[in-house]
Amino acid sequence: MAREFTTVGVVGLGTMGAGIVEVFARNGIDVVAVEISAPALERGRATLAGSTDRAVAKGKLAEADRDALHDRVHFAVGLDALHSVDLVIEAVPEHLDLKQRIFAELDRVCRPDAILATNTSSLSVTEISVATTRPNQVIGIHFFNPAPVMKLVEVVRTVVTSPEVVADVEALCARLGKVDVTINDRAGFIANALLFGYLNHAVGMFESHYATREDIDAAMKLGCGLPMGPLALMDLIGLDTAYEILDTMYRRGGRDRRHAPVPLLKQMVTAGLLGRKSGRGFYTYERPGSPKVVPDEATPVATEAALADGARAIAKVGVVGSGTMATGIIEVFAKAGYEVVSVTRGAEKSAMVCESVKTSLNKGVVRGKLSETDRDAALSRISWSATLDHLADVDLVVEAVVEELSVKKALFASLDEICKPGVVLATTTSSLPVIDVAMATQRPADVVGLHFFNPAPIMPLVEVIRTIRTSPEAAATARAVCAALGKTGVVCGDRSGFIVNALLFPYLNDAVKMLEASYSTADDIDHAMKLGCGYPMGPFELLDVVGLDVSLAIQRELYLELREPGFAPAPLLEHLVTAGYLGRKTRRGFRDHSHR
Ligand SMILES: NC(=O)c1ccc[n+]([C@@H]2O[C@H](COP(=O)([O-])OP(=O)(O)OC[C@H]3O[C@@H](n4cnc5c(N)ncnc54)[C@H](O)[C@@H]3O)[C@@H](O)[C@H]2O)c1
Repeated sequence: MAREFTTVGVVGLGTMGAGIVEVFARNGIDVVAVEISAPALERGRATLAGSTDRAVAKGKLAEADRDALHDRVHFAVGLDALHSVDLVIEAVPEHLDLKQRIFAELDRVCRPDAILATNTSSLSVTEISVATTRPNQVIGIHFFNPAPVMKLVEVVRTVVTSPEVVADVEALCARLGKVDVTINDRAGFIANALLFGYLNHAVGMFESHYATREDIDAAMKLGCGLPMGPLALMDLIGLDTAYEILDTMYRRGGRDRRHAPVPLLKQMVTAGLLGRKSGRGFYTYERPGSPKVVPDEATPVATEAALADGARAIAKVGVVGSGTMATGIIEVFAKAGYEVVSVTRGAEKSAMVCESVKTSLNKGVVRGKLSETDRDAALSRISWSATLDHLADVDLVVEAVVEELSVKKALFASLDEICKPGVVLATTTSSLPVIDVAMATQRPADVVGLHFFNPAPIMPLVEVIRTIRTSPEAAATARAVCAALGKTGVVCGDRSGFIVNALLFPYLNDAVKMLEASYSTADDIDHAMKLGCGYPMGPFELLDVVGLDVSLAIQRELYLELREPGFAPAPLLEHLVTAGYLGRKTRRGFRDHSHR
């Protein structure tokens, strides 16, 4: 029989603590909510009231239930109020000495049979537990932000945590409607170990002016379907907390440079820019604690006029190539009203591409997303050719041929001879340096990258790559074209992986390393990222869809260009590729897909 918890204590009512109080009280458990001072207690009370009022306003909580919820919470200053609770969860700032002091005090104040839990994200639960005389009753219960919303809880057992305590806490999580994964005490557990390298990398991109905050966040939301961009997420977590987590992970997790907090973070914390809780972090918020972003001096002026600033007029577009990307891109331009010249290597290929575009447009008609008239108009805008000479009068060329530098360079040299002056020449490469392609022409200022995502007609994101030779006008033109296509164009520098792949693949590779180290199972890791971070797919699901060979190739490129030791491809990934387990396309990758 699992132990019954009727009263729990929560220590620290900040970003996490206030949410944890709400989780317990919503589930009929009495809570003693403790803070260090009267003003801090008031802030915690206000956070709880704000959250439950919002739930009422959204119709997710009845007024009577809200009142009952508040009646279950008893607020107090100081730990003495916790003398008779069944379990305590500590959620004070991420400092080991502070947590150890609190646990020593809790050990003295609480009933001998009470379970003492920490919500730490990165500190050693074991080190916290030895500050008490009952380390076997100490456990990690790691909630995710916002606690009332996120389904996941990581239950962290140390080598001395008693199995009964683990079982009781697992049963408690189930009662709270949470899904738990139970794991050993390792820095960052599952989710943060995979999340924070990525977040820190994104901050580094921002710090080095590689891309704007809006573009970094839009890239990850629109390119990967994440619920928030990394910089907005840092603001939600709190920059002080994020700094401490990174710092601890760096020291505990093998001094991986990717966890060494980017210097900008420390500066922001020192300057009091802590994120949402202080009203300003990477973004500015309506007021401290508010989720609403307000414009500030860094907000881009996103009007059509600003986009068109310096942009050249584009009416006719050439698309070179006959693969999946070229086909999708032809459709996208034709649907948006551009005149399109498709160039392939022969009439047969042109006929194939034409068929694919027709099939795709017809699907749009069947699904009611496109009228027959619009379909016919789009098709009539496309002309089919097998020679580059037909690109003499286009305003923009989009190249989507095979991913080989020699081929692309030869093509750009030809385009340079054929195309009229002032044309923007774009490559869709996902891994080659755009500058290499640009230098094959006599007009590198007019060359950009336009990295579409697959399937191009559906994915809302395009990465616009500006090399060190790209002119502001060419970049403005590329961005204006993206807007005219109904896509979000994000501008970034010319580095391996651009924004999305550079941030995504090291995370996937880290997940493989975690599996390889037998820290957790593929199922638990997938669960943790979906339920703890709101990702649409777990890393192993995504790897099987993308293809392990493709993922390995991208990861190798990143490693070769950036020489970051932490980017070295996981040996397990290499072995699976060698064995021919490439994911869904071979019916076996990390999972067996032969019966699905
Ligand atoms: N922020 C997140 O997204 C997140 C997610 C999961 C876990 N965590 C972990 O939760 C813990 C709390 O983080 P946070 O972001 O909520 O921090 P926070 O700074 O928002 O809140 C900490 C609270 O603890 C209070 N406090 C400080 N000393 C105290 C004491 N001696 N007694 C009682 N209260 C005291 C502070 O007044 C403050 O209200 C950390 O261990 C963190 O790693 C954070």
